[in-house]
Amino acid sequence: MSGFFDEQEFIDEAIASIKEQIPAPGKAIIACSGGVDSMVTATLASKAIGDRLLAVYVDSGLMRKGETEEVEAMMKHMGINYAVARAADEYFGALKGVTDPEQKRKIIGEKFIRVFERYAKNFGATHLLQGTIAPDWIESGDGVRDTIKSHHNVGGLPKDMNMSLVEPLRDLYKDEVRAVARKLGVEASERQPFPGPALAIRCLGEVTPEKVEIVRNACFIVEDEIMKSVGSGEAVRPWQYFAVLLPTRSVGVQGDRRAYGYTVAVRAVDSVDGMTANFSSLPIALLRRISSRITDEMKSQVNRVVYDITSKPPATIEWE
Ligand code: XMP
Repeated sequence: MSGFFDEQEFIDEAIASIKEQIPAPGKAIIACSGGVDSMVTATLASKAIGDRLLAVYVDSGLMRKGETEEVEAMMKHMGINYAVARAADEYFGALKGVTDPEQKRKIIGEKFIRVFERYAKNFGATHLLQGTIAPDWIESGDGVRDTIKSHHNVGGLPKDMNMSLVEPLRDLYKDEVRAVARKLGVEASERQPFPGPALAIRCLGEVTPEKVEIVRNACFIVEDEIMKSVGSGEAVRPWQYFAVLLPTRSVGVQGDRRAYGYTVAVRAVDSVDGMTANFSSLPIALLRRISSRITDEMKSQVNRVVYDITSKPPATIEWE
């Protein structure tokens, strides 16, 4: 946090500034992922220009369990004028047969832009709101992350959209955004990082609705068990924690029969900024519960669970 920060003063000034930057009859659009930056930006803009704002949440079919419903409820609760773009079929169609991780990112990034553009056009948006915060543009010059993986951020929208860019959080750091979120009553404030390409990069190899459903359930179990464990004081909350579905199958037994099922890898890491990370020392009892629950609840699909014990470097946090 950069010195003394007065949330209420920031909120009042940001609302006044958005009003000034988007005078009537101007209309603004924002891509709202449900993350704290976009939710705070949308809430401020909604207070400034009301229904001249449209917040679009793109349901790619690649989101976590209950995520679309949660984000929708949040936008409703904050009184934001919003739309949910149901685009799962379009995404799965475009990803059919694609196995290369960078190709997946590219397709998902482009698909997102096309869907968002349609909404912007129909709404007649003149302004584009983005939840860019200080580290986003300060770090973007170093190129380190981009040389390893092309980090498609939901914020990465095209420059040729002919809309004026409005970025109310440009000078804030994450802890300041969180403080503003708490002041505004935005509930998205404590979520763990989640990649733009969503579950597609946690489903190694080809992405199909069936495989995404497996990894979605596995991710939910990992999150649920870890949060329960943190709640009881058994474990310390890792920085990021999730499941990955591997593309190979292995032999197992089910009852007295030989089965051939998928393997799920559990990943939990401690980090400060995602640039380097250590795998988390989760209690064995917790790992045992995660493993039993995944193989019980997905008996017919998953028969093996492994824990990823590599740090970054040499591995990355995600597997793709
Ligand atoms: P890696 O896997 O590179 O991840 O160690 C570092 C952090 O970035 C997230 N990540 C992404 N975020 N688009 C994003 O917006 C991406 O394509 C992407 N790939 C990884 C990852 O979840 C971790 O928090």
